Amino acid sequence: MEKLLDLLTKKVAEGFVAAGYEAANVTVTVSNRPDLCEFQCNGAMPLAKTAHKAPIMIANDVVAHLNADIFSTVEAVNPGFINLRVREEFLAAYLNDLRQNEHLGAPKCENPRSVVVDYGGPNVAKPLHIGHLRSAIIGESVKRIYRYFGDKVVGDIHMGDWGLQMGLIIAELRERHPDLPYFDDSFDGAYPEEAPFTISELEEIYPFASGKSKVDAVFAEKAHQATFELQNRKRGYYALWEHIMRVSVADLKRNYANLNVDFDVWMGESDADPYIPPMIEMLEKQGILRESDGAKVIDVEKEDDKKEIPPCIIVKSDGATLYATTDLACIVQRMQDFKPDKLFYLTDKRQNLHFEQVFRAARKSGIVPETVELEHVGFGTMNGKDGKPFKTRDGGVMRLETLIADITNYVEQKILENQVVDAAEAHKTAKIIAVAALKYGDLSNLATKDYIFDLERFAAFEGNTGPYLLYTIVRIKSILNRAELKDATLAPADSVSAKNLQLALAQMPEQMLMAYRDSAPNVVCAYAYELAGAVNKFYHETRILAEPDEAKKQNYLALISLAKRALDECIDVLGFEAPEKM
Ligand code: ARG
Repeated sequence: MEKLLDLLTKKVAEGFVAAGYEAANVTVTVSNRPDLCEFQCNGAMPLAKTAHKAPIMIANDVVAHLNADIFSTVEAVNPGFINLRVREEFLAAYLNDLRQNEHLGAPKCENPRSVVVDYGGPNVAKPLHIGHLRSAIIGESVKRIYRYFGDKVVGDIHMGDWGLQMGLIIAELRERHPDLPYFDDSFDGAYPEEAPFTISELEEIYPFASGKSKVDAVFAEKAHQATFELQNRKRGYYALWEHIMRVSVADLKRNYANLNVDFDVWMGESDADPYIPPMIEMLEKQGILRESDGAKVIDVEKEDDKKEIPPCIIVKSDGATLYATTDLACIVQRMQDFKPDKLFYLTDKRQNLHFEQVFRAARKSGIVPETVELEHVGFGTMNGKDGKPFKTRDGGVMRLETLIADITNYVEQKILENQVVDAAEAHKTAKIIAVAALKYGDLSNLATKDYIFDLERFAAFEGNTGPYLLYTIVRIKSILNRAELKDATLAPADSVSAKNLQLALAQMPEQMLMAYRDSAPNVVCAYAYELAGAVNKFYHETRILAEPDEAKKQNYLALISLAKRALDECIDVLGFEAPEKM
């Protein structure tokens, strides 16, 4: 399906050619003066020199040759712009074609890619807190946008499950319960199936042990030793680690499900670990590992670097491997398991340098050929109203669960006041709206920017918010519930607001493609907001259910039902859903 602007560009270019001009640089854009026209073309301007004519004369020649089946008004205005409006019949026919697509906003993808999206990145045994929020929200949406266009996407949570936090927990468990069989080196039976702790105990143990290691050097050493032994797969420690994983992953799944986030692959640093030794051997053979003060590094700086890019450290002088080593080994594993065309990562922007180094090392070593794309998006911070990273009232790190519960409570009060939803349904509905408020509040910003979390603003039913989109969808649902749509074919618009809604719908492929190309959910948000505005304007200016002319009424129903489909697709790629009522 051709995008509307491409189609219009082609038609206007034909007009240039018919009038005897060069058409290579002709493009049609959406008008930035909707009061004057719907579309515009500035293609006459640059032709003045070669044609030895004033641009307005060229524009006048062109408008005389434009296809009257497509354009209802064509105007040449000084100094040489071409202002256009399209025919209602043409627009309706275009949308009726678009309607047949599987997705309203996705032109058929010629070459679907295989993509791994690395997002979430929680650290096992530590509670999910708001630092994990953005990676989950943005990653989930990017994954869905890629899928919308037909890509084969693997969403991988990439847990931090192999580091010091595991050693800290094991060392602390050993102090508290020295009699457990996991700590008995002579034990060679089967370990218990039940974990010797619950998730709440685990969540208490980690911060406790972490605090202790900072003031107690002997304990810190024990934790390091335990980490080392775990990484060498000491039997009892590995069995404990498996318990920690089972208990934590169950809890993570529940938490992410609350956010409508789900992963295809639950792998982590531990899964990359076995790939490290053969990778280092390969790097040694290639001769790209350089000794530097006892460490082994890959030089990754380039001549045209604007800032210094330090070498990527692969092995520290004490023989330990690092975060970068794990990420590089994980790339080896992903290349092998998923044969990806693209690897996409989402983390906090403080990791920008890390990924720059890892990507360069991956290219230099040939682990990732040039044909495979590597992209890292480093997102900004969610701040509180004071402009500082969002905290709990007493200055602590807020748990994700608490944040979601707070937003849900706030929304629940609001919908109870509105009295549209039964008290029994209120909590469920509030949760759906809360997720939309939180996700849209985040996704509507450019990912790389910081933003301010503002509960009242995010949860408002009016304005540029998630709940506003839901409200618009619910409004359409309620109309469609009260009337029977017999034929979904669109008729030519019979009012300005109907036409503007159709024009907004026809923009969907363009906008979605932009979001896809730039991995940018904020583009979907901006589009959905505009579309919802067009729906509400149409709604306020049109009698739909009360329309006495049945044919007209059917046309209106067809239009809003198409708008609902478009909005549903938008919120689906953003990762939230609409309630029945609100
Ligand atoms: N666990 C890491 C952290 O908390 C994030 C992991 C991101 N993904 C990756 N492949 N490094 O910072």
